[in-house]
Amino acid sequence: MCSRYPSGTVRGISASLGAPLNPPALDPTKLEAFVDPLPVPPVARSNGVRLSPDGSSRKLPFYQIEMREVLSKVHRDLPPTRLWGFQGVVPGPTFETRKGDELLVEWVNRLPARHFLPIDHRLHGAERDKPEVRTVVHLHGGRTPPSSDGYPEDWYPPGKSATYFYPNRQDAATLWYHDHAMGINRLNIYAGLSGLFIIRDQVEDKLHLPRGRYEIPLVIFDRMLDAHGQLLYPVSGDPRAPWLADFFGNVMMVNGRVAPFLEVEPRKYRFRVLNGSNSRLYHLQLANGMPMMQIGSDQGLLASPAELQRLAIAPAERADLVVDFAGHQGERIVLKDDAVDVMQFRVSRVRVVDDSHLPHLLRSVPRIPEAGAVRTRTLTLNEYNDRTGQTILMLLNGTYWHQPITEKPRIDSTEIWNLVNLTDEVHPIHLHLVRFQVLDRRVFERFEYQRTGNLRYLGPVTPPEQNEMGWKDTVRAQPHAVTRIIARFEGYKGRYVWHCHNLEHEDNEMMRPYEVI
Ligand code: C2O
Ligand code: CU
Ligand code: CU
Repeated sequence: MCSRYPSGTVRGISASLGAPLNPPALDPTKLEAFVDPLPVPPVARSNGVRLSPDGSSRKLPFYQIEMREVLSKVHRDLPPTRLWGFQGVVPGPTFETRKGDELLVEWVNRLPARHFLPIDHRLHGAERDKPEVRTVVHLHGGRTPPSSDGYPEDWYPPGKSATYFYPNRQDAATLWYHDHAMGINRLNIYAGLSGLFIIRDQVEDKLHLPRGRYEIPLVIFDRMLDAHGQLLYPVSGDPRAPWLADFFGNVMMVNGRVAPFLEVEPRKYRFRVLNGSNSRLYHLQLANGMPMMQIGSDQGLLASPAELQRLAIAPAERADLVVDFAGHQGERIVLKDDAVDVMQFRVSRVRVVDDSHLPHLLRSVPRIPEAGAVRTRTLTLNEYNDRTGQTILMLLNGTYWHQPITEKPRIDSTEIWNLVNLTDEVHPIHLHLVRFQVLDRRVFERFEYQRTGNLRYLGPVTPPEQNEMGWKDTVRAQPHAVTRIIARFEGYKGRYVWHCHNLEHEDNEMMRPYEVI
């Protein structure tokens, strides 16, 4: 295997049947890197105005966004790849909004009636009596009323739509929208159904960060392509139970293109990075050793920039970065995930006057006092294996999706959630509606905990990294550790969800409803 690309994990090659159940994957070493320019998703355009759903006579900007099948060039030397995109682009158009500017979006499902990826009908919500193709859109990181939040069971089939109201009453941040349909969410997002939703505000305007063509989104995800450049989604080998516990692809894409390049000027740029992968956690670094300044995380600006050599970013996490290419005229700088090439920056030799700033103080981010929490919940993350060691199920707190709601925080109250990870892997845990802060992590003895319920710690309390000290909506729950988060449940009463954002896990029971009462 070439060092430039990860080798894809294709299990499910059944020796007994003699034939591979997964078609052969493309040899990524045959694809030349850095031959395609980085595309930038178009900005979403409104289709006029509609009356506000609050019954007043106010008119709000109205967007109609269609999900449809599309053929898209992901690399110069490959034939077009079948994808599902919002407005026919992958990633979908970027919403540009400002804090407090309400808007309406009609999400229209114009997808074909048949799915082109392997549905596992055993998974809850994906039974054979359900339509194969179903979608419902969630704005990840949005403080959204429950009726517009994209509850996983509120899906609808092709030919139908739903109009959602986004109040955007929240600080400037990089949000993203994506499919959330129960039991097939991993396939729909894998097919291409995700896009960015940016909220800006005055606090951010005053900082004079790089803007316009110097502010560029980088939506990173991995995919597995077959020899014809078509999406391949590996299956277990058991046709009745095709689900596999993780997905790792053989190519890295940025904004929907395999290992693209970007021409930059020798000055500061702002990159809004989203890990839009199903399972893969990235460790991003610039190959020449240049630092990256992280100015924001999931829910907006940090208090001050964090200088990083290496950025760990799990599925659904966002990192707002400023990179200064000044002094690097003529260089070609590769962005890598460990040893794998993700994309390349080509620094031009033009003379520039960089009038953008990178202030030392970005925004005040007061820590939520622990003493203000009215309740602490201890919630386990569980994984279950069959006799051969294959993972077959994941749960939150040992509870299935369909069981009665157990987490019912009171509106405007503060709670601490202790995420007790009993598994060997990182789970990116996401709560809808709220922003939270990471308190700390601590390794514990998990076998003792499983036997006796006693939490015996094996190490010191580890505070969050500097770039985790801002507002978050997704946290990496480290293996064999208790990760503590604190949140104020404000905004709206009603039913929401919390879940692991490893999409394979989320689709197989690692998701629970919760209700703000
Ligand atoms: Cu990215 Cu339930 O969300
Ligand atoms: Cu969300
Ligand atoms: Cu998980």
